[in-house]
Amino acid sequence: MKKVVVINGPNLNLLGKREPSVYGAATLDELNEWLLRAAPDLGIDLTFFQSNVEGEIVTAIQEAGSSDGIVLNAGAYTHYSIAIRDAVAAVQAPVVEVHLSNVYSREDFRHVSVIGPVCRGSIVGFGKDSYLLALKSFV
Ligand code: DQA
Repeated sequence: MKKVVVINGPNLNLLGKREPSVYGAATLDELNEWLLRAAPDLGIDLTFFQSNVEGEIVTAIQEAGSSDGIVLNAGAYTHYSIAIRDAVAAVQAPVVEVHLSNVYSREDFRHVSVIGPVCRGSIVGFGKDSYLLALKSFV
């Protein structure tokens, strides 16, 4: 089994309640349970972490650093956190950046990802499928 850690950043704990027209109706627990159901067939052993705090996300990336992969939705930190970018660059584990929404069809400030250049790849705009596609990239 490959060990993959899904890390969600700020405000993603509000999924389901937060701008459902942009982010969908599913809660974070529902999203995680859906991924957990898909994981065994992919040979993936999945764990989850969510925090609204930048430093906690940095620590979670470091702690997942020797796993087989990290799926990272850093939320708004995507657009400006050099600390999270440096954590991604520091670890061995390949990191796939994901976003529920298509950040490139939204406000200009969402068009920049400081994290993307140090990730293996980025998957944006497919709702919860963004996470599933990221998991499949590790298989
Ligand atoms: C997001 C996009 C970010 O711009 C935003 O700040 C989020 C969610 C997404 O999943 O679409 O919090 O990462």
